[in-house]
Amino acid sequence: MTEKSKFLLSEEDIPKTWYNIQADLGFDLPPLLHPETKEPTILPPPLFCAALNEQEFSKEREIEIPKPVRDIYRMYRPSPLIRARRLEKALDTPAHIYYKYEGGSPSGSHKPNTAIAQAFYAKEAGLKRLATETGAGQWGSALAFACKLLGLECKVFMVRVSYNQKPYRRVMMETWGAEVVESPNASTPMGAAFLEQDPDHPGSLGVAISEAVFTAGTNDDTNYALGSVLNHVLMHQTVIGLETQKQFEMADEYPDILIASIGGGSNFSGFVFPFMREKIVDGRDIRIIAVEPTASPSLTRGIYAFDYGDTAQAAPIAKMFTLGHTFIPAPIHAGGLRYHGMAPIVAALYDKGLIEATAESQLPVFKAAVQFAQTEGVIPAPETAHAVKVAIDEALKAKEEGVSKVIAFNFSGHGLLDLAAYDAYNQGSLEDYALPEESIKAAMAILPEVPTEYAAA
Ligand SMILES: Cc1ncc(COP(=O)(O)O)c(C=O)c1O
Repeated sequence: MTEKSKFLLSEEDIPKTWYNIQADLGFDLPPLLHPETKEPTILPPPLFCAALNEQEFSKEREIEIPKPVRDIYRMYRPSPLIRARRLEKALDTPAHIYYKYEGGSPSGSHKPNTAIAQAFYAKEAGLKRLATETGAGQWGSALAFACKLLGLECKVFMVRVSYNQKPYRRVMMETWGAEVVESPNASTPMGAAFLEQDPDHPGSLGVAISEAVFTAGTNDDTNYALGSVLNHVLMHQTVIGLETQKQFEMADEYPDILIASIGGGSNFSGFVFPFMREKIVDGRDIRIIAVEPTASPSLTRGIYAFDYGDTAQAAPIAKMFTLGHTFIPAPIHAGGLRYHGMAPIVAALYDKGLIEATAESQLPVFKAAVQFAQTEGVIPAPETAHAVKVAIDEALKAKEEGVSKVIAFNFSGHGLLDLAAYDAYNQGSLEDYALPEESIKAAMAILPEVPTEYAAA
């Protein structure tokens, strides 16, 4: 038996098309509703260019990746699929554990897969600048990098708790030429209002989205870019799963279980959607597990309802699993998982029982991340560490049951700019956060009312 560890594709194997799961869902997604009229809407044109709007609602199965986007993908794609043999050995498990390593992109995560595409279409549409929010800084740095390569300016509202926890992410964005401000920010009306309510407001992705949306909506030369949640963003990430399928052919195996962390849903979707097609269309027996933090458990403790995408109610209303748009998660280190809602496609798949979800808390997640680092060498981002935790749990379950499962997880990003979190864990000062039932109930009490015909969708 081969002892091969890395399954490598050539640049020619970079997918030429993205996979659009909307072609294969077999049901229509509930409509996106305008935040004021509560009637069906497209993505607001002052925020998004026509090409992205078309992709958002397209039912075409394959959408061509423009050549300039593929040319930038060549800088870091295809990414390797790696068999975690040393981790398997340490766990003494019969399971085969694989991870798709997205940490090798210039910004260190999967996020450039869509940032490059979004910057390309914005440039084509004649825009000068993109505005966005960032939590952990992974998305902001991906967009800063993409904008620089495509000749656009970039403005990033960075969630305050991450701005303070991760100063080097800010430096990274600034090195790629972006303007980075902390959110809430007194320069926007909503930021000023949040700061007036609470001068120590820790910020949240919901608040930062409101500020970036406001900036794009009030400047003709600026569009808004979102790093997750929307259909077109998830689709751009499918290069991950499409490559993984080819790599499993090389390995002569097929995954029994796919695992990915889930914030808004983009790395999860990019990794699993091509396999989901095989599950839906070909009836393949495959378990697909989304891993969220117990501090922001939209799938496992939220409800499936229409809610605003942002705290200030400026973004469209989508049907998703939500904790309520006013929900402010505890300041866990996995900043990219601190979002109140979930991508509508992922929410629909969960509602239909096609995927599973589990919530993990910070301390066991870091324990798993350290075990991974001490066997496989690579230090995972705190978000990625959620997937590592469940991959280890499943490998140990396989050992208990005496079965040899093939387990694959998406290694969404490295944690080399998250070392303050590892330091806290190593020093024993990292805390777990309990999520009081009342804080979810309070946020869910103010979900928007939408016309009944859509509420029933
Ligand atoms: C490394 C990493 N993994 C996962 C996520 C979660 O986002 P998503 O669910 O869109 O993949 C983020 C978000 O910032 C991230 O930076």
